[in-house]
Amino acid sequence: MARQRTQVAIVGAGPAGLLLGHLLHLAGVETVILERQSRAYVEARIRAGVLEQGTVDLLDEANLGARMRREGLPHGGFDLAYDGVRHRIDLAELTGGKRVMVYGQTELTKDLGDARAAAGSPTIYEAADVSIHGADSDAPILRYRSGGAEHEIACDFIAACDGSHGIGRRSIPAAELKTFERVYPFGWLGILAEVPPCSHELIYARHERGFALASMRSPARSRYYIQCPVDERLEDWPDERIWAELKLRLGPEAAAAMTIGPSIEKSIAPLRSFVAEPMRWGRLFLAGDAAHIVPPTGAKGLNLAVSDVRLLSRACVAFYKSGQSAGIDGYSQACLARVWKAVRFSWWMTQLMHKFGDNESFEARVQGAELSYLFGSRAASQALAENYVGLPF
Ligand code: APR
Ligand code: PHB
Repeated sequence: MARQRTQVAIVGAGPAGLLLGHLLHLAGVETVILERQSRAYVEARIRAGVLEQGTVDLLDEANLGARMRREGLPHGGFDLAYDGVRHRIDLAELTGGKRVMVYGQTELTKDLGDARAAAGSPTIYEAADVSIHGADSDAPILRYRSGGAEHEIACDFIAACDGSHGIGRRSIPAAELKTFERVYPFGWLGILAEVPPCSHELIYARHERGFALASMRSPARSRYYIQCPVDERLEDWPDERIWAELKLRLGPEAAAAMTIGPSIEKSIAPLRSFVAEPMRWGRLFLAGDAAHIVPPTGAKGLNLAVSDVRLLSRACVAFYKSGQSAGIDGYSQACLARVWKAVRFSWWMTQLMHKFGDNESFEARVQGAELSYLFGSRAASQALAENYVGLPF
């Protein structure tokens, strides 16, 4: 068996794992990343695309922001549509000048992959059967198979950045973990198309036929979503049906401005909220989707992964530089305080904007009242805006 040693071994080369590797590299801490898929596969995955102000600032500070600054689209607001009315939430005005950046996670993952390759730090793609050993001891070990051979990495810490289906969380004994889950009774059907967006900002619509979202990746590429049953078959949704549904749900103004074209990608994703506590067991840390999932309403998933790895990198650096373990000991609690606020916000926005059953129900009337209150109250709009641009890191 081939053996090697590193300081922090990272499982998963998604945005959480790659960013953690980069932040540690900047501080002179060695890492090895093990990723089950190929680099091409990881970089082709299409995910959300809204970066909070804190995420943007962190990428800039870590010298990762050059392409994002050139190609990303700063947004100072978005629209909520309800009952034929489109109401703008002026993020910049309501938050004292903060904005979000529309920049696809796919692009960010490529930038992170390039930065890691340029730094010469090792990433083992297509690592099979990764397993974690001795996480509750002083000498944790990762084992994996690559090129038909068995390998072992000895390390000081293991960071499980391996997403919701990874092995990190499953390596913690069930008795040590408490999990919280909310499954929503619908999914999002997403479509990506090489057409200009129907509006220069995002539109979140609560319509009697269900939720719809108009988003974008660039001035020439649009991303749209509609709420649909989770068990819906993609074959039943030819492009024309999706465009027609989007026009109805987003309203006549958006419909008139909508350019339609063939889809580049189409998929249905379920919506759920999930949190595992604690986010650390001995020398094993969970970060990003490995520890928590939020529904995409509000686009918090990637931003939460970024705030986790920021705290984790600081904790590891403090440990190596000055032997302090306060950051390590406090990691889970510090992350979870912010995680739960984002979980609450994503749940609230999902609850507010989707169709839950009958439009003539008590819940639907309360939704209507809340949206009407939001449209008329600066205080309520400000609370939404403050959460949307991101709570402090
Ligand atoms: N061994 C090695 N790698 C694994 C394993 C395993 N057993 N299981 C999963 N992985 C890899 C996946 O292939 C994936 O590349 O871990 C990576 C996890 O990446 P993501 O799922 O992207 O999760 P994360 O990095 O936490 O990103 C945060 O923000 O917008 C949200 O959910 C969205 O992915 C996004 C997330
Ligand atoms: C996206 O562009 O994919 C997107 C934008 C905003 C969201 C969710 C997804 O709330």
